[in-house]
Amino acid sequence: MKILVTGGLGFIGSHTVVELQNEGFEVVIIDNCSNSSPEVLQGITKITGKEPIFEQFDLREKSKVQDFFKKHQDISGVIHFAASKAVGESVENPLLYYENNLSTLIYLLQELSGKTSANFIFSSSCTVYGQADELPITENAPVKVAESPYGNTKQIGEEIIRDTCNVSKNLNAISLRYFNPIGAHPSAEIGELPIGVPQNLVPYITQTAIGLREQLSVFGDDYPTSDGTCIRDYIHVVDLAKAHVVALQRLISSNNTNTNYEVFNVGTGTGSTVLEVIQSFEKVSNQKLNYKIVGRREGDVTAAFANTQKANEELGWKAKSTLDDSLGSAWKWEQKVRS
Ligand code: WQD
Repeated sequence: MKILVTGGLGFIGSHTVVELQNEGFEVVIIDNCSNSSPEVLQGITKITGKEPIFEQFDLREKSKVQDFFKKHQDISGVIHFAASKAVGESVENPLLYYENNLSTLIYLLQELSGKTSANFIFSSSCTVYGQADELPITENAPVKVAESPYGNTKQIGEEIIRDTCNVSKNLNAISLRYFNPIGAHPSAEIGELPIGVPQNLVPYITQTAIGLREQLSVFGDDYPTSDGTCIRDYIHVVDLAKAHVVALQRLISSNNTNTNYEVFNVGTGTGSTVLEVIQSFEKVSNQKLNYKIVGRREGDVTAAFANTQKANEELGWKAKSTLDDSLGSAWKWEQKVRS
């Protein structure tokens, strides 16, 4: 079976391509390489021994999307990662985010709605919950007013898919709401490659530890948590990638009998504070991390971690890696990339 992975050279996309190939799927990648590099293809091929088909173009070019689906009529499913994803940048440049993240989704759905049957997995995010009223967060938690245009594109994206599925019964879709993906493939052949100064915690930690960054700033220790720092649900990117494969298999086997659109949280179900992440990293890297406490970062929620019961029971999926495993793989990757 041939699966299209948009953004398949990105962090989560590349790890998902590996897991799809491991399960015997044929993979076609579309990536505009705005936040990734064709070298990632070599890493994927080194791990699986199979080079995915790769087409480099921007999904905002509607005619190219149409031509692609004319050329690849045998696509059985689409996993859609391609999107802009920097929260801060989205505040500065909202129109870039609304155009890129929504027009590309619409063009893909227009192509899929015309097929007799189509399976679609959407890369969503726990940001749709904002600061949830109850923890751990279930899929029924109310979607809050988005804290950023990026988060809003995920909320609107889910609504576009839901409304399309309502009228196109040939379309089977799942939105996966990621918590905090971290780590790298154990082979260290692929991993996270943030461009410029990392916005996220774990790449900033590994770049500080390797000497690329002077010091990590911990954004606030006056939150109402055990040690005053924010709590997140850090999930190994390979566990997250595997969740996409089981979700796709659910759609292909039409096991989602009572509806053609579902939402699943994808996390470990465990929350860790920033200081706990630092302590775990110091343990796995066997070195002290240089950090200081600074003021809070605007837009941060105090705590977010998943109730994963629905994915555990209905997808038969559960995250396996511990925080130590994930940070150890992130550190191994950082050392490999800088070697
Ligand atoms: C985690 C914690 C920071 C950097 C974002 C997106 C989300 C998803 C994952 C795409 C927070 C603290 C961070 C630093 C710090 N991306 N921190 N110093 O904000 O939970 O989620 O990435 O889907 O949509 O919003 O992740 O890694 O930026 O922050 O203290 O230099 O680490 O305050 O508490 P976040 P993060």
